[in-house]
Amino acid sequence: MLELHVIILAAGKGMRMHSSLPKALQPLAGKPMLYYVLQRAEELNPKMIHLVYGFGGDKICAALTDYQLNLVEQKEQLGTGHAVQQVLPLLPKQGRVLVLFGDVPLISLTSLHNLIKNTPAEKIGLLTVNLPDPTGFGRIVRDASYAITGIVEEKDATPEQRAITEINTGIMLFPASFLHKHLLKLQSVNAQHEYYLTDIIALARQSGCGVVVSRVAETWEVMGVNDKLQLAQLERCYQKNKAEQLLRKGVTIIDPVRFDLRGEVGEMEVGQDVVIDVNVILTGEISLGDLVKVGANCCLTNVKVGNNVVIQPNCVIENAIIDDDCVIGPFARIRPDSHIKKGAHIGNFVEIKKSTVGQSSKVNHLTYLGDTIVGDKVNIGAGTITCNYDGVNKYQTIIKDGAFIGSNSQLVAPVCIGKNATIGAGSTITEDAPAGKLTLARAKQVTIEGWKRNDRN
Ligand code: UD1
Ligand code: CA
Repeated sequence: MLELHVIILAAGKGMRMHSSLPKALQPLAGKPMLYYVLQRAEELNPKMIHLVYGFGGDKICAALTDYQLNLVEQKEQLGTGHAVQQVLPLLPKQGRVLVLFGDVPLISLTSLHNLIKNTPAEKIGLLTVNLPDPTGFGRIVRDASYAITGIVEEKDATPEQRAITEINTGIMLFPASFLHKHLLKLQSVNAQHEYYLTDIIALARQSGCGVVVSRVAETWEVMGVNDKLQLAQLERCYQKNKAEQLLRKGVTIIDPVRFDLRGEVGEMEVGQDVVIDVNVILTGEISLGDLVKVGANCCLTNVKVGNNVVIQPNCVIENAIIDDDCVIGPFARIRPDSHIKKGAHIGNFVEIKKSTVGQSSKVNHLTYLGDTIVGDKVNIGAGTITCNYDGVNKYQTIIKDGAFIGSNSQLVAPVCIGKNATIGAGSTITEDAPAGKLTLARAKQVTIEGWKRNDRN
């Protein structure tokens, strides 16, 4: 096997994005585009990944601290050919060099493998595709015998060339020796005054180096992203594809067009008879057990959901575990480090933060539980608030099995409500409440005899 070096070009500003964020960091399905390209590069197990950065270098470098790669700065963005020239001194004399683009994020591993497999070691491999609307792409120019003579950028193309529908995806595979010999010969005599990497194909033709074309399976894999419109269009392709994968696994998605998965393929595990209603956003690592229903407009981020759980519409759940047989929502917010145990109910306008709610417990309406451990079979009345924060520190509330908290109670932490204790409605509890007893902390009701209302007349 020949040594493989991958170069990712990500120095461009992305003028057409009109953003302070470098183009390669613009998010697709919640993740910078560049991360998709890096993942592909890593999956090829190359000897080295070189990343060419330029505009927004600080932001790019900060986003890449977890990656093993060789960062190469391109101080001035003088074109894709110039970008590859920056890496030239670091390339081996022998071996192969694959060029990927930071703004072509969804290229599949299969297409890259095909390109590598189809291209003999001494030739150049080009990944192309036929597009009904080739606008904006470099066109593949061929002679009468169908041999490739070069690539022409849209801005430099004649009307006849613009009619060509075979386009350059930008992804190319080179023998390292060829780049050492020819890359510095590129010139910037063109409409954009840039050193185009694409001109290397005409140089290959002149020097007798063969060019082999591989095709991609799916057009959307190679859609370049130059502006927000293309970003939104590619996001839709990505999401459609994700929804189709889940539909094939047997998930009912009420409207695949209104479904967003902002995570990775394979990260989401799904059971049987899962139903996902419209406008659901799933982010990060999600697993859904059998018979789970996710209502409309729910946002789930890193959530593990057991079997037979109903999440009613408009819930926001993040970094939480929901065990079997729970009912959540509508309008519930479950914040990080929360665990809702088997059969518990969390109702409307309930916020739960860093808390455990025990088996079959009910927190049905208008409640805040923060830093709380709720036992089994507890009933928390409407309007209950755990006062967990004194402005400096957070304190814990413990509510033991079978306790009943009357409505509109405040539990001032640190505080413990004993097993089977009852708290009278409207209490402000500042001391531990003993097990099995009724504790009340509210002013006694009085009726004033002989009192008369001020009559205006
Ligand atoms: C490029 C190709 C075009 C192809 C299309 C596919 C060239 C000259 N044109 O056009 O044939 O159809 O991609 O999507 O190669 N970059 C740098 N440094 C630079 C300039 C660009 O690193 O000086 C990076 C950009 O960040 C980007 C990539 O190279 O990731 C492509 O640059 P871009 O300006 O988007 O090229 P296109 O006009 O899309
Ligand atoms: Ca581009």
